[in-house]
Formats: sequence, C-alpha cells, structure tokens
Amino acid sequence: MDLEETKNRVEYLRKEINYHNYQYYELSNPSISDFEFDKLLEELIRLEKENPALFDPNSPSQRVGGQITKEFRQVRHKYPMLSLGNTYSAEELADFDLRVQKGLNEPYEYICELKYDGVAIGLTYINGQLAYAVTRGDGETGDEVTTNVRTIHSIPLKINTPGYPQEFEIRGEIIFPRKSFDNLNNERIELGYEPFANPRNAASGSLKMQDSREVAKRKLDCYLYFLLGDNLPFNTHYENLVQAGKWGFNVPKYMVRCSSIQQVMDFINEVDKGRSQLPFDIDGVVIKINSLAQQTQLGFTAKSPRWAIAYKFSPERATSTLLSVDFQVGRTGVITPVANLKPVQLAGTTVKRASLHNLDIINELDVRIGDRVYVEKGGEIIPKIVGRDLEKRPVNAIPLEFPLKCPECATPLVRNEEEAHHYCPNEDTCPPQIKGKLEHFISRKAMDINSLGEGKIAMLFDNHLVNNVADLYKLSYTDLLGIEKTITSTEGKEKKISFREKSVENILEGIRSTLGIPFERVLYALGIRYVGETVAKKLAFHFNNIDNLIAASVEDLIQVPEIGERIAQRVYSFFRDDYNLKIIEALKAYGLQMEIRDTGARILENKLEGRSFVVSGVFTRFSRDEIKKTIEQYGGRNVSGISSKTDFVLAGEDMGPSKRKKAEELGVKVITEEDFLKMIR
Ligand code: IVH
Repeated sequence: MDLEETKNRVEYLRKEINYHNYQYYELSNPSISDFEFDKLLEELIRLEKENPALFDPNSPSQRVGGQITKEFRQVRHKYPMLSLGNTYSAEELADFDLRVQKGLNEPYEYICELKYDGVAIGLTYINGQLAYAVTRGDGETGDEVTTNVRTIHSIPLKINTPGYPQEFEIRGEIIFPRKSFDNLNNERIELGYEPFANPRNAASGSLKMQDSREVAKRKLDCYLYFLLGDNLPFNTHYENLVQAGKWGFNVPKYMVRCSSIQQVMDFINEVDKGRSQLPFDIDGVVIKINSLAQQTQLGFTAKSPRWAIAYKFSPERATSTLLSVDFQVGRTGVITPVANLKPVQLAGTTVKRASLHNLDIINELDVRIGDRVYVEKGGEIIPKIVGRDLEKRPVNAIPLEFPLKCPECATPLVRNEEEAHHYCPNEDTCPPQIKGKLEHFISRKAMDINSLGEGKIAMLFDNHLVNNVADLYKLSYTDLLGIEKTITSTEGKEKKISFREKSVENILEGIRSTLGIPFERVLYALGIRYVGETVAKKLAFHFNNIDNLIAASVEDLIQVPEIGERIAQRVYSFFRDDYNLKIIEALKAYGLQMEIRDTGARILENKLEGRSFVVSGVFTRFSRDEIKKTIEQYGGRNVSGISSKTDFVLAGEDMGPSKRKKAEELGVKVITEEDFLKMIR
C-alpha cells in the first residue's frame, strides 16, 4: 500500500469503528461480532503505528488507551467551574423559588435533572473535535486529563452532525456505573488491594491514573448537562441539551420541565423513591432556570449560580439487629469499633457491617448487643449506626465493652486527652501497624515501589519474610518464588494466588531501584509520625545527613524553620528507639541514600528564608515547577492558598482576578517574575 492507499484505509477503518462503537455503546445494538470488531481495531492500530504521520488524537484507536501521562498539566478554565447551592427540604426549595420570583418578576420555567454523583469535567471542542478535558480543580484551574477521557466511549471524539459552534465547552459528570464499580472492587479485593470507598472516589482515582490503558478497562461513563460558549444554538438550556444529544453527547435521560415548585417537588419525590434502582449513584436533583436570558438576569454569587440549585436527598436508612462488635486495628494503630449486623438491604446493597467510630460515640448512642439499630449510608463504603430503638431493647441486651488491650498484639491501649480514638502504641511489632509502615514505605511519594502493593505486602508479612522496611532488601528470588495466599472474594469464592517469575523479578527490580532515591524521600519513607513530605525535606536539607539528624537535640530540631515542639519531640524520640536505629543502620548498609547529594536541589542561599509564596499564573522564564523549585532552593516556602500569613503572591500572566483581589484584601504583596529575580540576585 502506498501512503495514499494507507490513508484511505485508515480513514475507512476509523469510520467503520466509530459506527460500530456507536451501535454498541449508544444503541446497545451491536452490528458485528466482537471478533470482527477487534480485527478492524487491530488493523487500525497497526497502520497508525507503522505510519506516524497519520496520527490523530481523536482516532477511535485512542479509546483503548496506551498513552502515559506523567504529570497532569494545569489548565485555566475559560469560565470558572462553580458549584451549586444545596437545599435539603421543601421549605428551603420554596425559599429558592421565592428568590427567583423576586429576581425575575416574570413567568419562568425550571428544568429538573438528576444530580450525578461523580467527578465534574469540562470538555472543550474546537472545530468539532475534542480538544481538551479538564477537571474542576479549584474551580479556576483544573487538571488536563484528555488522554484518559478519550477512553470513555460515551464521549464523542469528533462530532459528525453539523451545526455546532466553532468552539464550545460542555460540562458534565464522569461516573462509575454501579456494576462496573462492583466488578472493580471485587477484582481489587481478590488482588489484595483496598477497595474504593464509593463509585465517586473510584471515578476520581481512575481519571488521575497515569496509564490510560488502565483507565480504558474501567468502563467509566459520562453525563453532560451544561453547554457553554458564545454561539450556542438555542436560548434555552433544554433545547441546547437536546441539540447536544443530537451531536452525540450523553445528555441526562431525565430532563423534566416544571412550571411550579410543586411540580419540582413531585419530581424529586419520584426520583427519591426510584433512585436505588438506577444503574449509577445520584445524590439529589438539580433544578435550573430554563431561559438563558433569565439565567443571565439572575447571575451568580461568588460561589454558585442564582439560577440553579441542588436538592440533596437525606441518606437512606434501614433497621437491623446488632449481633456483635469487632475492634479493628488500623494501619496507624487507631482502634475502630465495627458492628456486625443482621444483613439488611440499604440503598441497593446488602449491609452486614457498620462503623461505630469510637468510644464516645458508642456511649452517646448507648447501643447494646441485641439492640434494634438504625443504619445510614453516607458517602463511604461502610455505613454507620445512627441510633437504636429503646422500646425494642431485649432484656438480655449486653452493654459493649471497649477493650483495654490491643486485639492484635495485646499491648495496653492508649488514648490521648485531646483525641477521640484509642490506639495501640506498639508501632514496631503490632501486625497491622507493621503492614501500615511497609505500605507507606513503598508508596508513590516515598520509595515508589509500584511492583508491590497492599496485597503483596500482606503476603510477604504473613509468610514471615518481611517484618520491617529493611527486610525488603534481604529478599531473594528463591524467597519469593511460589509463595501463595488463599483469598476469599466478596461472593465467598476461594482462590489461590502466588508469585510467579515475572512478578518476582518486578518486585526485586522495584526494590533495587530505590537505591537512587534521594535522602529527603528516604526520610519521609521512614514514616515518622508528623513528618510529611515537606517536613522531611526541611529536616534533610537542614541536617544534610542522617547522622546529624540522629544526633540533633529537641532544641536543634526546633531551630529548623517551621519545625515546632510537637514535631521536634516526635522526631527526637523516634531516633532514641533502638529498633528504629537498627532499621536505619540496615538501610544504610543496603545502600540507601542517607545524605543529601549535590543535585542542585539543595538550598543555594537563604535569601528567601522564612518567606512564603503563592505561585499563580504562567511565567516567561520558568515553568511553574521550576519557579517553585527555585523558591525552595533559596530557602523560601511554597504554600497553596493565600492567607494573611502569606508573604508574597508571585503573579505570572493570566493570574485570576479573584486571587489578585484576595491578595489585595489581605494586604499580601503581589510581585512579578522580574521582582522575584531581583530578590534572588
Ligand atoms: S449544573 C453552574 N447539573 O454537582 C452550575 N451539576 O454540587 C453547573 N452535578 O458542580 C452545574 N449533576 O459537578 C449540574 N445535572 C447536573 C449535575 C450537576 C451533578 C454536580 C456538578 C456541580 C455539583 C454541585
């Protein structure tokens, strides 16, 4: 095939695949077999790979993912991405209606839609092609997640029906359908990963994954409910969305016109009754003024439109019997009481366990074993007990006893005066705490060993191969090969998993690769309480190496900018513990970086010492990351939000007017890139 022929074939394949995708995903009416479809797709992917000149970011081949995003680019929203005011009752809704009436003084119409419980997204189309997809972020700027969004089948990559504005944005919600969510969580449990708390968290986590191929596997969906731009086709919200539906967007299935607030309430009640049957989570209903002219007339407050409001459902509630209570020990030693209940249906799932939080809440609720209890589902996967029915209390109901000793290691429990939780102080040998330390050590911002995860850590620990972070470096190929674990899925199926050659090699390679990780991250990875990433950096750069840090007194530690008494005490006592020192010695012997290397990241001069900066906008000489790094190199500190304590706002081009206003109001000095250069020269 010459290039011309290849080009034609590629175009043909793209058209065919788009057509079959539409038949399959939108109409649920596949017109060819999966096998035939895969053949077409394979051919397209091959031809595109062989002919890089024919690359098109909106080719249907991009639906399967494959591109890796190392860091998500920050993009400023053309129109700020606002939130909605909330109402929880008919009265509050009537108040909203009254405000609308006063504001308009003429007849108006509402459109009611479901309030999808997912992750907000803005899709910008230029010349009918998806140009970029940006998350809400702080409402002014968000993360560009286009590559991942391209894998969502219900989002058109190209619009084929004419009549769309040359440039427009459409906003909506990316959701995780319940069925895909259950499948994903079952799979995660099988592989030994922590399940996601709810579909919303899963959707948000998925969008931020680096490997778009993984995102493609997750079967996300998207509903689009807000069209923005200069040349919209109609002057009502409803007609614009119907039109967007014709362009191929998944617009809300329920869009109900209401001419009175009573009709709105009727719709809300109907949805509330049926919501557990929906294939995805919603958390309310959104009510919007239909006419765009009236929307403009009502306008916005600082945070939300005056022309729309959300009605939020109260959490669903069920009644069950409290059978027993387990006291679980968390990764940080915190004890959480978890109730075992007689299974009951709640918001579409069977509930067997519910949280009782802590001793104060148990006392406040006054629940006993045998009680009839009320269970509610909030946003989290584990529902909570919110009360009990005293009249139904059996005579033999047993009061709960909070354990005095750790259920895992029998160490007496501790409770600090100002804290609500009890915890097990045995950080070194209490099993869940050891696992917690190991998980922290391998996490992305620490040693970033992504060939290990929670499940594998548990296998290493349960097989007595690893008892602390230094033991990871002792592991050999023969130690690991073939170790196995039996797991039980949520459906009660048992399955054996074991380490095979490839996974053993990956684990060992992952561990080896940590030898080059800089000292400040090693320090963070040790998991000293209160020593987060920033504190670890400060300590590392101040003391230069682990020996100086170990030798430091509490007074020495307090000398470091921003290290207060509480952190200093904690760091000091961490290094007075023989077990910790032994681990550090071992890590040193294995070759981990225990001192600052001169990579240019070190503090060059202290010209900006103690000064805090908020960096905003785009710069000419530096990227945002570079300018932030420079601030740190000169001893300054980056903070994310402007407060009265901020010393400078470093403003690039395009800094949002609201940030400037806030800086002015708080009397924070706004400086330019040039001013900044003068400061450090
Ligand atoms: S309209 C200017 N419609 O709920 C307001 N939002 O809590 C535009 N949401 O920020 C938003 N379903 O992320 C609108 N049918 C719907 C929605 C919806 C879910 C989200 C959206 C919004 C948040 C407010």
